[in-house]
Amino acid sequence: MACVMKLLVVVISLSWVPSMQHSSSVLGEPEVPCFFIFGDSLADCGNNNVLNTTAKVNYEPYGIDFPYGPTGRFCNGRTTVDILTELLGFENYIPPFAYANGSAILRGVNYASGGSGIRRETGMTTGTVLSMGKQLKNHRKTIMRIVSMLGKKSLARKYLNKCLYSVGMGSNDYINNYFLPQYYNTSQEYTVEEYAVVLVEQYSRQILRLYEYGAKKVVLGGLGLLGCTPAAIASYGTNGSCSEELNYAAQLFNQQLLSLVDQLNSNLTDAKFVYINNYEIGSANTAALGFTVSDAACCTLNSGGLCEVDTTPCQNRADYVFWDGYHPTEAFNMYSASKSYSSDESADTYPMDVSHLAELEFNPVVAEM
Ligand SMILES: *[C@@H]1O[C@H](CO)[C@@H](O)[C@H](O)[C@H]1NC(C)=O
Ligand SMILES: *[C@@H]1O[C@H](CO)[C@@H](O)[C@H](O)[C@H]1NC(C)=O
Ligand SMILES: *[C@@H]1O[C@H](CO)[C@@H](O)[C@H](O)[C@H]1NC(C)=O
Ligand SMILES: *[C@@H]1O[C@H](CO)[C@@H](O)[C@H](O)[C@H]1NC(C)=O
Ligand SMILES: *[C@@H]1O[C@H](CO)[C@@H](O)[C@H](O)[C@H]1NC(C)=O
Repeated sequence: MACVMKLLVVVISLSWVPSMQHSSSVLGEPEVPCFFIFGDSLADCGNNNVLNTTAKVNYEPYGIDFPYGPTGRFCNGRTTVDILTELLGFENYIPPFAYANGSAILRGVNYASGGSGIRRETGMTTGTVLSMGKQLKNHRKTIMRIVSMLGKKSLARKYLNKCLYSVGMGSNDYINNYFLPQYYNTSQEYTVEEYAVVLVEQYSRQILRLYEYGAKKVVLGGLGLLGCTPAAIASYGTNGSCSEELNYAAQLFNQQLLSLVDQLNSNLTDAKFVYINNYEIGSANTAALGFTVSDAACCTLNSGGLCEVDTTPCQNRADYVFWDGYHPTEAFNMYSASKSYSSDESADTYPMDVSHLAELEFNPVVAEM
């Protein structure tokens, strides 16, 4: 069972990469015409490369299993959103805002920035990063460009209504803010319960802005087990076990986010918001999925919990859940992307999975010539 699963992961990952490299019309149109991505290092695909921050990874061994080598992705290979992009039928990965140009932006843009969060100050100890507010400002710039490409505001809006939007934020508001009391005073200002409430209130305003910008199909990723990353175990865990304090904080945030998703879905009936339960997905029995190492990084870590420049990582990367101190391997991303895309269990995606969200139609289909 375990072997079959791992074999499947390897086979799929090998067969998909060439199809992205040699774009072919055989694949047909993607399930949605465009995909916009907001987030942190779990989704960054190169935006931080051009920023003055220590939170950037455009060096080896990052990208060792990626067709284009080190691109700024915080992974050995594809991120979860890369794999979702493939599952949705796109021929190319969604380009980072930093490099996206020309008509490519009509397929979508990735605004994600490693180290960033919902709060503006989050991650600033690493240098400059793009907070959710800044990512929304960049999205506005993209919209202006799309308006000028399509010639009319109303056409751009109709187009933007059909896109899929993925937003994954909040991890850094804990690990690069609340749980760094030497740099931030949020833990003096708020209890961890209060912090989850103010954080999701701010997030809620940001997501409403995204909706005002035309988003109708929105995927909101909950937080994973923040206390079980190799970096968290080293800094906050006792006796090599997960930090219950960080895991508890992630669960509080997720409760607020889930309740926000319910409110958004009942208030905004011409849109749909889907919650991805990354905590549940991350709680999988990884040994049963074929992973043999779940509490240590595959690469040699620097003091920041990222891979040391130009070091040789582990050979058996598909056996590891974690690539570096914080980020899963491509092998684990395969698992979480497939759960998000297609899941029978409402415990993983709520109220539906990404494949069903992509299919929704909100506007009467206007006859197109
Ligand atoms: C980058 O940030 C560092 C630390 O904040 C600063 O000392 C340096 O001058 C900055 N470099 C540039 C090019 O802005
Ligand atoms: C976009 O940028 C790429 C590389 O950065 C360049 O090769 C390409 O010509 C540019 N395309 C347009 C339309 O500007
Ligand atoms: C926390 O820091 C901010 C600025 O960094 C300051 O405005 C605020 O008063 C501080 N709060 C507390 C409780 O120290
Ligand atoms: C950690 O391990 C030590 C030695 O094995 C033990 O005495 C201690 O109780 C453990 N602490 C916790 C919190 O489990
Ligand atoms: C949803 O509507 C209720 C009732 O009008 C309001 O109290 C709540 O703030 C709204 N929630 C969101 C996220 O818009």
